[in-house]
Amino acid sequence: MLLCGLRDLRPGMIVGIPVMRIGAEAGEFLPAGTILEESHLGEMKDAGIASAWINHPATADLDEAPLWGLDQTLHDLAHRLHGDFAEPFNPRMTATQALDIRAEIISLVCEIVSQRRFVRPVGRRLEPRYRVFEHSLNVAVLSLFIGMELEAYIVRERPRLTASEARDMVSLAFGAAFHDLGKAGLPPCVQAHHSVYEAIRGAIQPAQYEEHTALGYDVLRDTGIAASARQVVMNHHQRFDGSGWPNMAPLTNGRHRGPQAGHDIHIFSRIVAVADALDALMMDEQGRPRPVVAAMRDLADERLEPWFDPVVREIALRRLPVFPIGSLVRTSDGRYGAVVRRNSLQPCRPAIRMLDMDCRHWDIHPMADRCETVDLAYRLDLHVVRCAGEHVEHYLFELPSASPKQRGSDADSRIGVHIPQTA
Ligand SMILES: [Fe+2]
Ligand SMILES: [Fe+2]
Repeated sequence: MLLCGLRDLRPGMIVGIPVMRIGAEAGEFLPAGTILEESHLGEMKDAGIASAWINHPATADLDEAPLWGLDQTLHDLAHRLHGDFAEPFNPRMTATQALDIRAEIISLVCEIVSQRRFVRPVGRRLEPRYRVFEHSLNVAVLSLFIGMELEAYIVRERPRLTASEARDMVSLAFGAAFHDLGKAGLPPCVQAHHSVYEAIRGAIQPAQYEEHTALGYDVLRDTGIAASARQVVMNHHQRFDGSGWPNMAPLTNGRHRGPQAGHDIHIFSRIVAVADALDALMMDEQGRPRPVVAAMRDLADERLEPWFDPVVREIALRRLPVFPIGSLVRTSDGRYGAVVRRNSLQPCRPAIRMLDMDCRHWDIHPMADRCETVDLAYRLDLHVVRCAGEHVEHYLFELPSASPKQRGSDADSRIGVHIPQTA
């Protein structure tokens, strides 16, 4: 299957995975097998649906779409959490509620961990009042992917636990899913605050904004939820260089002086900090969606380097695909193709299988093994211009230290990230 942006869809193409409508009128918009007509394209535009998976004869092997149902699951959960905790703001979570939600988080974790594949975080189609939980669940998904890539590092960073206890992805996901819970208790203008852009500019943020960490931590008090999950809520704005918050001295009777720094910050908080910034960067300051590659480029910006654990940031930059497998891309020579292999060393230079996108020729289209594959790792004269309908050319970035020998795109290679010993 092939993930196409709305502008690349044409009448005659066949829908491969049900196209879902999200939000107030959530449900199936177009069933699998629908032959697209001109009228469908207009209706998709009106419904704010920006992309669809379609059947293409030369992409049957690129089945990266089995997690499509996750999008709906996350939206349903965002609705539910908003109802339970934000409207009106509920300053106490009961142990029963916590266990209930933990069970849902476990099934989410199982689904993602069993697939071990990256799924694009959910789109932003809910009304602004749901944004806190929509963002939080996106952060949970991103944190899980980063966590799965960092298992060995996590085990090393939690030396008092057995390896299986240390790899507790449920606590990571739970902490991430509730990291901004306290925002639900703040006025909407403070909730809508985009700390990441103001922080990059060095602007002062509203004083009340910083209260959301302690507020959220208090809501989870006495719920029986693991301490490693609760401290994510308190410490996801701590920075590796010590320039974050909250100041822990008044909260812990002075046992920590000032904000936390370096390896004193729990590894789950360090992971959620990266996922949090990445998801925030997937929206502009007006709340409009930005391509994943735009957010990744900003995360790679050296101004953000001191904020994050370098190992976690490096893994996020190299392992979260900027162009997911199966996405339709347009290259700078005007041709179309599907992304077939990621490139951990230079994420903006994947390998691409060139395709004919005129569906009138698809009954004679060569099969996958007969199509030309262009590896952008070696074709430096070419680059990606568009991905799944989004213009991405202005956001392409390069990561340091990719020698020509290392440049090839990787089917399943592990990258050589240096993992330091725990301090
Ligand atoms: Fe936050
Ligand atoms: Fe956040």
